[in-house]
Amino acid sequence: MAPVSLRIHAIAYGADDVLLFDLRSPEATGLAPFDAGAHIDLRLPRGITRSYSLLNDPAERHRYVIGVKREPDSRGGSAWLHGDARVGALLDVDGPRNSFALNESAPHSVFIAGGIGITPLWSMAQRLEHLGRGWTLHYRARSRRRAALVGELAAHAARVQLSFRDEGDAPLDLGRIVAQAPEGAHFYCCGPVPMLESFEAACAGLDPARVHLEYFAAKDAPATEGGFVVHLARSGRTIPIQPGCTVLDALQAAGVAVPSSCQQGVCGVCETAVLGGEPDHRDLVLSAQERAANRTMMICCSGSKTPALTLDI
Ligand code: FES
Repeated sequence: MAPVSLRIHAIAYGADDVLLFDLRSPEATGLAPFDAGAHIDLRLPRGITRSYSLLNDPAERHRYVIGVKREPDSRGGSAWLHGDARVGALLDVDGPRNSFALNESAPHSVFIAGGIGITPLWSMAQRLEHLGRGWTLHYRARSRRRAALVGELAAHAARVQLSFRDEGDAPLDLGRIVAQAPEGAHFYCCGPVPMLESFEAACAGLDPARVHLEYFAAKDAPATEGGFVVHLARSGRTIPIQPGCTVLDALQAAGVAVPSSCQQGVCGVCETAVLGGEPDHRDLVLSAQERAANRTMMICCSGSKTPALTLDI
């Protein structure tokens, strides 16, 4: 689907090194609706596409709001948004799409946020407030000054546990949080990889349908071993994948246009249907069942266990 052109209506301070971008239609028309947990993809200059979670209330139809953390090792996304983006500029935006959906019928929802991972969880909390459903939030950050949305959360203090490293607060005890949650609660986590791994361990004994998480960065290194070929079913071309290249790298070098965003296996933009061969999955998008089915793969990071893959490209 073609992107929509949205204007940067406002840029606000969210926390140290975090800016909040309010994006609206230049014609002041309504935007496509979104569900809590959804994200949009921004097409930025120099061919960069980046995904950002929507943090505003899904009941809002006139704007999308995202929080962007300045990443010291930014490959261009957060660096451009922090350094070059200006109010009034137009951005091409894809989505919204949702790979971190909220179960709105759960009897209770427990949110665990690390740093900028608060953004989709705050959108979910606002949605549950409208629905009158119970929720609690546990939010860990390096410091209060670097924690976005603490002002908004202050209105829900009874539901929120804040934990700041520079104030000497102990790390979140995820095992205790899970054990003490109300019967039937669903659990959501978004934050850095170590927190997500602890979360997965704490939830290991639960029904997977009650456990939801979203990675912002990859856990595994991308598959760059090469040594296989990719057959493109639609064009009939065969592309060799050399050592040091991902499938995405090789396709782009061969002039094959394929969508991508994070290039770390976390956003799902490059998901491609697999028609033959067995992928070596390295992403964080597919579930264990989806990986086993081998119907799709993330070509930015996953490789092949077989000498050839056939992709629906
Ligand atoms: S580009 Fe994000 S998963 Fe591949």
